[in-house]
Amino acid sequence: MYTINEHYLKLQGSYLFSTIAKKVSEYQKEHPQAEVIRLGIGDVTQPLVPAIIEALHNAVEEMGTTEGFHGYGPEQGYEFLRECIAREDYQNRGCPISAEEIFISDGAKQDVGNIQEIFGLGNRVAVCDPVYPVYVDTNVMAGRTGEFNVRTGGYEGLIYLKCLEENGFSPRLPGEKPDLIYLCFPNNPTGMAITRTALQEWVDYANQNGSVILYDAAYEAYITEEGIPHSIYECEGARRCAIEFHSFSKNAGFTGLRLGYTVIPRELSCNGVSLHELWNRRHGTKYNGAPYLVQRAGEAVYSSEGKAQLKEQVAYYMENARLIREGLKAAGFTVYGGVNAPYIWLKVPERMSSWEFFDDLLKKAQVVGTPGVGFGQGGEGFFRLTAFGTRENTLKALERIKRFY
Ligand code: MLT
Repeated sequence: MYTINEHYLKLQGSYLFSTIAKKVSEYQKEHPQAEVIRLGIGDVTQPLVPAIIEALHNAVEEMGTTEGFHGYGPEQGYEFLRECIAREDYQNRGCPISAEEIFISDGAKQDVGNIQEIFGLGNRVAVCDPVYPVYVDTNVMAGRTGEFNVRTGGYEGLIYLKCLEENGFSPRLPGEKPDLIYLCFPNNPTGMAITRTALQEWVDYANQNGSVILYDAAYEAYITEEGIPHSIYECEGARRCAIEFHSFSKNAGFTGLRLGYTVIPRELSCNGVSLHELWNRRHGTKYNGAPYLVQRAGEAVYSSEGKAQLKEQVAYYMENARLIREGLKAAGFTVYGGVNAPYIWLKVPERMSSWEFFDDLLKKAQVVGTPGVGFGQGGEGFFRLTAFGTRENTLKALERIKRFY
């Protein structure tokens, strides 16, 4: 008789966003007339910009010719895209990252979920609390944690770095020494950013303790303030201790196209074994690359037209963020985030839990958000709204929230 991977049985219920989708679809079945506004999952709503559409069309035409046809691509991704990324996202910002240190993939979620495979099972993992659930769940699946503890609301064996109102949602360096440290800034879900000085402390800490920082920079395009790092490689010594993940989903609307990349500097090694080589081995074995068409679309993100058009798109979402932040404040809510990130983190009304507020908001205002506790115990009492809706829906949702709370 075969057996299953029993670590999966430790997982709590279904994936957060699947649970929410199920709840909303049940509500809609019961209330078919309800006009539900979704500000839950961070999925974009604006169409792909013209520069990207043009690049896709051109690549489609190319693929229909003998000379322009592309089969399996290079393992790490096409050089034309890796060169753009190295120049625009790193070298122009003074970060010493080269094209050959970049791995193209079909999305950051896969990479942040899969990266743990190249590390030993005995590694101690630190995550923020609240946290994007993928970091935790993939380590649970791999068997790197103990059971879920209902009393603490966390998994045994994981180190939780509390991100609470009291510490400005910025994690403190832990006393126990983790081997793998997941950080995401600007942060999902709190929408808060980290300063370069604070991030440098993490880099120094990791280098002193021999830890690796797994840095998720999916939301860097939303940074509006000075002194907030766009990449961990802006910090000295980060090449020796950090892997960075990027997504094209949030800055360029690729949630449906799928494209991302991971940077593993050459210096990063463990007892003489290069992490770059390990990931390369994994990539080559388990993955055949993002589609040529999509990589060409990714290249257009860095063209001058693409950059100008995407700047406007990001500004559109950030105006939503401002409207939500100001609107909720005016309605008496305590609100965080939304300045350097497309997420707004609000305190739910007193005497309500995050899930109670979710149900109440759906019932009264037909607005969907994400309960803070879905991101971990540290998110209890909070609620996340995304700025990725349309302007019309954002304004309508605000109006309804103001009417009922
Ligand atoms: C979120 O809503 O937290 C994100 O959209 C999820 C993701 O990027 O996978």
